[in-house]
Amino acid sequence: MTRSLHRSLHSLVLASLLALPLSLTAQDSNTIHFDAATKVFRIDAAGTTYAFGVNNVDELQPLFWGRSIAATDSLPAAHTLPEVASFDGPGTVTQGEYKGWGGQLYLEPALKVTFPDGNRDLVLHYVSHHIEGDTLTIVTKDIERDLFVELRYTVDPATGILGRSAIITNKATAPVMIEQAAAATWNLPRGTNYTLNYLTGRWAGEDQLQQQLIRPGETVLQSTRGSTGHQNNPWFAIERGPSTDEDTGDVWFGALAWSGSWRITVEQDQLQQVRVTGGFNPFDFSYKLAPSQSLETPVFYGGYSDHGLGGASRLLHRFELTKILPQSPNPRPVLYNSWEATTFHVDEAGQEALAEKAASIGIERFVMDDGWFGQRKDDHAGLGDWYVNPQKFPHGLKPLIDKVHSLGMDFGLWVEPEMVNPDSDLYRKHPDWVLNFTGRPRTQERNQLVLNLARPDVRDYVFHFLDDLLAHNDIAFLKWDYNRNWTEPGWPAVAPDEQKKVYVAYTRNLYSILHDLRAKYPKLEIESCSGGGGRVDLGIMHYTDEVWPSDNTDPFDRLSIQDGFTYAYTPGVMMAWVTDSPGWANNRTTSVTYRFLSSMQGSLGVGANLNKWTPEDFATAKDLIAAYKGIRETVQHGSLYRLVSPRNGSETSVTESVSLDKKQAALFTFLHSSTMNYPYPRVFLRGLNPNTSYRVTSISGKLATDTPTTATGSYWMSHGLDVELKGDFQAAAFRFDAQ
Ligand code: DGJ
Repeated sequence: MTRSLHRSLHSLVLASLLALPLSLTAQDSNTIHFDAATKVFRIDAAGTTYAFGVNNVDELQPLFWGRSIAATDSLPAAHTLPEVASFDGPGTVTQGEYKGWGGQLYLEPALKVTFPDGNRDLVLHYVSHHIEGDTLTIVTKDIERDLFVELRYTVDPATGILGRSAIITNKATAPVMIEQAAAATWNLPRGTNYTLNYLTGRWAGEDQLQQQLIRPGETVLQSTRGSTGHQNNPWFAIERGPSTDEDTGDVWFGALAWSGSWRITVEQDQLQQVRVTGGFNPFDFSYKLAPSQSLETPVFYGGYSDHGLGGASRLLHRFELTKILPQSPNPRPVLYNSWEATTFHVDEAGQEALAEKAASIGIERFVMDDGWFGQRKDDHAGLGDWYVNPQKFPHGLKPLIDKVHSLGMDFGLWVEPEMVNPDSDLYRKHPDWVLNFTGRPRTQERNQLVLNLARPDVRDYVFHFLDDLLAHNDIAFLKWDYNRNWTEPGWPAVAPDEQKKVYVAYTRNLYSILHDLRAKYPKLEIESCSGGGGRVDLGIMHYTDEVWPSDNTDPFDRLSIQDGFTYAYTPGVMMAWVTDSPGWANNRTTSVTYRFLSSMQGSLGVGANLNKWTPEDFATAKDLIAAYKGIRETVQHGSLYRLVSPRNGSETSVTESVSLDKKQAALFTFLHSSTMNYPYPRVFLRGLNPNTSYRVTSISGKLATDTPTTATGSYWMSHGLDVELKGDFQAAAFRFDAQ
């Protein structure tokens, strides 16, 4: 008898004997087990164990999360902690899987509600559970009221990453107001020696990795802006001990799949217990649940690695590529984008001229950015009017699209569907369609207002104009932009106590439009852009194929933006354009090669004004694009090792990508400025097969003359290699192929 079958039978027998209110395992699971004797749930996958139990007061209490425990080791039953002081009773010091605010809880609740009679006390008790394949569903209920919370746990057997969410259902006869709803609380083993990693930023400066010791109290990561935001990204990673090496040590990490306002709190309590709670942002939030209605939270994914932050991000990348992104990961085509070359001044002849030049260097997709629609001359007008501008494109988009196809490329188009300029036919006709409070100012940002996608008529309008555009034009790719945050987020068309639902309804309608478009146009690919990286999260990535990490295309700044990005997101979706030099961000001059090598660490694009390029620029670009195509599968879908970080003023940075079969590696090395004639620090590869021979080839740049052309993986990893880099803003790249 298999161990899992044995456990299931054991559970069945015990449950019937003890007549516990347990609905038992519907289908045997290799990953999820329930021990009816101890009332312990265990989820084991990919070297990770996650365990919790139903405790002596019928609450769900975490037991363990970390490196896998042997199946033969049984975990003791969950028990509430004793009162520590009259100020710190069991209700607050005992950790919970998903706690309602009520009883004695003084720490961050997962759920907070107000009942119509004024009662705000919510204590959730276990009712039943159900295991099906890799999903565990647990029903909990308030001790007195008919408010049910179903907790879902779905584990990915390949990475051990758990997806957790909650469905809150009102089975009473009166409405309930939800004021705070998290997807999950993640509890870490008790300790004080933790370092929190998180990403902060701003427009043109996204994804800067922050590291700080977790101290008593609470750290809040959030967006209150209606969308994911540039300022914080909904991702965290907690290392045990100080950060020493990228690829060693225990790391617990998580990412929230939500593109609306969100919040993640990281809390160390008075017993030095650390927990992370994340979900809808409770700021300005409420959600009225009528009888028999439900609210489903976003999914909060969490995982564990004993291979440091590097191991954590490799697990997350694999998970995103296989479980989050909408289709099996095709390599991203090398694209050209018109924005930095022509801004709003697009027209048929100008775009066709750029397309010819783009095709000549091996570009596979030509994307026309902003400016093609309505009365769009600059950012003051046109958003909302999605007809082709007849002055710029007198015969519609077809001649340009045909030309692009004749050059062997597919065609992509920029849209910003959720926005409207007050100077537009749409706004003149439907001024009530934007987020607003009646009689109050409507603050413009970039001369635009936000359409209230929560409204069914707005949702239909957006879907139908996109459907029409796609039905009448052969468009392979949409760059979906979103260039401001919310202000005055009112929804006057619904009752005052329903208006704050906008935070949920808007984002759900956004997802449903993306879903319906993809269903109708299965070959369509979409990029999520929000003035750069303002909407990058696992929620939007479920419906999009790539993301635009930053409007800042300075190749040096991009090294740290891309470095931060890859802690949370796969380089496979990280669009990176080569643009002109000196660039607008820093007026810095860099070589074409440096710019290409910076961009080749992700999904390569070109956004330069090709009309200004020299023949030498074209020749270099053509060579490097060809070289990129030879390594892109490895870069986009392989395992990333951040060998040297560009953070904290580092003079050097190095990344290495290794293909899944370990037959190829791509190495990118960068030098900010050499000083005192020092040589470039030796580079030690990682992740190769030690006994396999790899031949090294230069993509650009030189190795020390005594470097062997072929050596084993163990040589490249242990002995390392010396790269010849001197000067300012220099870069070199090499590929290693198994022989
Ligand atoms: C912001 C985007 O991030 C840019 O790449 C470009 O598409 C502009 N919007 C166009 O308005």
